[in-house]
Amino acid sequence: MSDPQKPSIHLSFSDKYTDDHSQQYFQKHHRKKLSDRLEHRMAERALALAGNPASVLDLPCGTGRFWDMLAREPQRELLAADYSEAMLEVAARVRDPAVVRRFRLLQCSAFEITLPDHSVDCVFSIRLMHHVGESSNRIAMLKEFRRVTRDTVVLSLWVDGNYKAWRRRKLEEKRRQGGEKSDNRFIVPSAQFEQECRDAGFTIVGHVDFLPHLFMWRTYVLRKMGI
Ligand SMILES: C[S@@+](CC[C@H](N)C(=O)[O-])C[C@H]1O[C@@H](n2cnc3c(N)ncnc32)[C@H](O)[C@@H]1O
Repeated sequence: MSDPQKPSIHLSFSDKYTDDHSQQYFQKHHRKKLSDRLEHRMAERALALAGNPASVLDLPCGTGRFWDMLAREPQRELLAADYSEAMLEVAARVRDPAVVRRFRLLQCSAFEITLPDHSVDCVFSIRLMHHVGESSNRIAMLKEFRRVTRDTVVLSLWVDGNYKAWRRRKLEEKRRQGGEKSDNRFIVPSAQFEQECRDAGFTIVGHVDFLPHLFMWRTYVLRKMGI
């Protein structure tokens, strides 16, 4: 459970998922059919690499984009959490009620998950880590995932070494010169992130790229060391 000695970490981007924004998030991804399908395929391949875990915590679940896919395994135990109450409410409203019933829902931060140690076989975390700009905060989040999982973590983030990352770096440079603020999304060099995973107590089982060499999205599969 949450440790009173641990400093609490708050990311400014976390406050943007209000009622309106949550509804917009759902609509946006509902329209983007092809990229949504490719992202599901990436996540499915990553879950297979993780050994098709029998219990999964979807964190952050957002509007439940991955719930149908996660629930396809009929025996799988399912939990879902998000920092935003509004996102959880949209998810419970827009997803198939039979699927929603399979999930135990929690409102909490990924830095302080309100579950005991070793609660699930896999923490499944899509589209959160690229919002974490500080290495120390990424390691803190990874350690919290390590506490809650018994075995693996599946997580996506933006990495370098591809065309989109090269384009984005140029855009960021332009923004900086124009005095614009960051949009709170960050690219991490893959070698650096892999070291952070090891520092947090994981080995890297493998990764799946959204579209290799072209896009920034990469999903890592991590396994807890020393269990
Ligand atoms: C880009 S959405 C991704 C949601 C979902 N995984 C998906 O791919 O559709 C980011 C989500 O992170 C949640 N979030 C922001 N800060 C968080 C935190 N500290 N802990 C847990 N969830 C957080 C937001 O409420 C939002 O639902």
